[in-house]
Amino acid sequence: MIQKILLNILTGLYLLLHGIISGIVKQVLPYTYRCKSVKNELVLVTGSGSGIGKLMAKKFALLGAKIICVDINQTANSKTCAEIKNEGGEAVAFKCDLSKREEIYSLADNVIKNVGYPDILINNAGIVTGKKFLDSPDEMIEKTFQVNTLSHFWLAKKFLPNMIEKNHGHLVTIASCAGMFGAAGLVDYCSSKFAAVGFDEALRNELLRIEKTGVKTTVVCPNVINTGMFQGFKVAGLPLLEPEYVADKVVEAVLTNQELLMLPRMTYFLWCLKTILPYKFASFLDKDVMRLCHSMDQFVGRKSD
Ligand SMILES: *[C@@H]1O[C@H](CO)[C@@H](O)[C@H](O)[C@H]1NC(C)=O
Repeated sequence: MIQKILLNILTGLYLLLHGIISGIVKQVLPYTYRCKSVKNELVLVTGSGSGIGKLMAKKFALLGAKIICVDINQTANSKTCAEIKNEGGEAVAFKCDLSKREEIYSLADNVIKNVGYPDILINNAGIVTGKKFLDSPDEMIEKTFQVNTLSHFWLAKKFLPNMIEKNHGHLVTIASCAGMFGAAGLVDYCSSKFAAVGFDEALRNELLRIEKTGVKTTVVCPNVINTGMFQGFKVAGLPLLEPEYVADKVVEAVLTNQELLMLPRMTYFLWCLKTILPYKFASFLDKDVMRLCHSMDQFVGRKSD
């Protein structure tokens, strides 16, 4: 008993020191030395028609992966595929409405039959209502959860068994800062993203439980990205992120099997503060400093969607 406790303390200390030291070394060394290869791997990206989905698809293609592009917008999705092929990469496009479970299941069967099992699944597609809670139509609240959260469940259900069997694969959850901080005017969106963060963490623990350490997970929580989806959104003190930068960081996180990526870096610190500060002080930060209560006041969103 005592031996077990001592052993755990020593292992814990070792991992802590190892984590801190390799964290510092990482800042100095270029990350390419720590990268796994995705050459000839199948990478499925949802929401590949636009935004960071499109950029990630193109970046993984340049690394030699074969891309399975999934989007509801066929025009935009074919365009992504064409651009990948123009750059010498390989890609196939599939249309899917990710708010519909049956459609997702038949998409997955189609992918497995015609292309194969993805090695890397990037659950990226997302939608936003952008209305105050009481003004949000029921159907939009449901749809937000269907696309932002439940689609992750259905796709993982189809593709994870093969990853577990091979003990090889990677599940990438593109969540959001909104999955760690709640903002006014985004009640449905934040709840769906908190759920996506929980999905990643709980599933990671299930994979640890069965010791399938070859199946990696990454959850990504960026602040608002300058892609138009959140046109008009603003958090005081936090910069809008450029899509190229976010896509680069996600690719880096996947290639180095990083479990959690929050962007910008400042948000790690804010997240940590949020959990240890007195609640009233945290509310003051939210309301008067970061003005999270007002972040959606000038929201316009993406017009064409
Ligand atoms: C689909 O994508 C095209 C090309 O990017 C865009 O012009 C169009 O508005 C999109 N359609 C919808 C319904 O969002």
